[in-house]
Amino acid sequence: MENGNHIYVIFGASGDLTKRKLIPAIYSLFVQGSLSDKFALLGVSRTEMSDEEFRLNMKSSINKFKEIDDLSKIEEFVQKIYYTSLKINDAADYSVLTGKLKDIRNICGIGGNTIFYLSTPPSMYGVIPKNLATVKLNVQSDGWKRLIIEKPFGYDLDSALKLKDEILRDWEEEQIFRIDHYLGKETVQNLLVTRFSNGIFEPLWNRNFIHHVEVTSSESIGVENRGGYYETSGALRDMVQNHLLQVVGLTAMEPPSSLEPVAIRNEILKVFQSLRPIKKEEVKDSVIRGQYISSSIKGEHAKGYREEEGVNPDSHTETYAAIKFYIDNWRWGGVPFYIRTGKRLPTRVTEVVIHYKPTPHFLFSQDANVPTCNQLVIRIQPDEGILLKFGMKTPGAGFDVQTVNMDFHYSELSNIRIPSAYERLLHDSMKGDSTLYARTEEVIEAWKFLSPILESWKENNEVPLFGYPAGTWGPEHSDDLIEGEGMTWRYPCKNLSNDGNYCEL
Ligand code: BG6
Repeated sequence: MENGNHIYVIFGASGDLTKRKLIPAIYSLFVQGSLSDKFALLGVSRTEMSDEEFRLNMKSSINKFKEIDDLSKIEEFVQKIYYTSLKINDAADYSVLTGKLKDIRNICGIGGNTIFYLSTPPSMYGVIPKNLATVKLNVQSDGWKRLIIEKPFGYDLDSALKLKDEILRDWEEEQIFRIDHYLGKETVQNLLVTRFSNGIFEPLWNRNFIHHVEVTSSESIGVENRGGYYETSGALRDMVQNHLLQVVGLTAMEPPSSLEPVAIRNEILKVFQSLRPIKKEEVKDSVIRGQYISSSIKGEHAKGYREEEGVNPDSHTETYAAIKFYIDNWRWGGVPFYIRTGKRLPTRVTEVVIHYKPTPHFLFSQDANVPTCNQLVIRIQPDEGILLKFGMKTPGAGFDVQTVNMDFHYSELSNIRIPSAYERLLHDSMKGDSTLYARTEEVIEAWKFLSPILESWKENNEVPLFGYPAGTWGPEHSDDLIEGEGMTWRYPCKNLSNDGNYCEL
């Protein structure tokens, strides 16, 4: 790999993310020959463990959460893995880390290039960079140093600004990679290609032709074993502040001048700067929050959020959020954007739906159930692809119109494996390509936009928290957000199919 040999240091190495995503993704890169010639991985966490014990754990993670079918190179791969325990909070302990890094460099013949991935609780995001700086592990004289920070970057605007200042005291913006795994998804990146490589879409991608834009990211799972974390987060911080707004950014941005990271990120930033603020007093009309309550799904009892482990039985944390907002610029002036996300909805699906304006005068007989507007559905997951809905004459007498689908599924591109988001993002971090990482200003703008909502929810008891039965599409009230006759959210799967999977209606 052209950008050099390096050591990949993972803080929080005994955690879930390391096991499930990071190590399987790095193994997959190894099998594909995408790691640098000389590469070593150092796991760091509080737990006492030997290199050998950590290697054994990582072997079983690669087997369990496998990213790639070829498991024949695991033995070779784990020989590149090392481990050290560290009191992460304690700057004085970081000499242990420098010592271990020095040993690995000597053993493997690797220079100073180092990546530090913070897969720790967010409270450590200020502490670790500072402690690394006390032992000069931010200094780039002997090779590049990069910091990868998981979300959430801050808890609200004030804490994000504080964190930003803390980190930028010792690190340069170019060294910081803020991960948003949605940006690593192949189909999220395909938004750029769909828009800017097809002459037919871009001329119609504006307020003159588009009626409204809808972005949905629904999950069928609940909070599982993350109740403790989720209580401090909620849907707005967990999904909207980062993933959904990034998808909006790519959907709404202007064409970048090039594919350089700075050019793309500048355009996304401009979208965020153009978000029309939702005033606190407007929150009750523009934002719906909900929380799942117990129900029965396919005959089985489904717990309500308040019954989940680690959750306060009186919790007011939202597990569903839907927002209507505008982007005040020339392209989007007056076009409403509707975004929603929730846990324990009927299915897992993330999609962007571009709803085109109707024809000025509809000539044909119209079935009230048939939409008269074209829709372009960009399916981000799980059935990645693109769907265009348009009207066709129903065969026979008269001029009845029916809606038909032109539907492309990524799965039809046979033999092409879609890499996981983490695989793509980790590889980019090794190459120093920050295109698919969020930069500080974007994160701050996103918090600015969401702050009045968070404050209003906190201060104002009049803003209701609606309960919705697990396995349904969230509070019915979110339908009221979408104004206009006959307009509703698109329900990619109205009823839970027997296997609980996405089904196109
Ligand atoms: C994470 C959230 O960032 O994204 C989780 O913390 C959520 O709560 C997950 O489940 C969804 O990611 P994906 O890739 O499954 O859509």
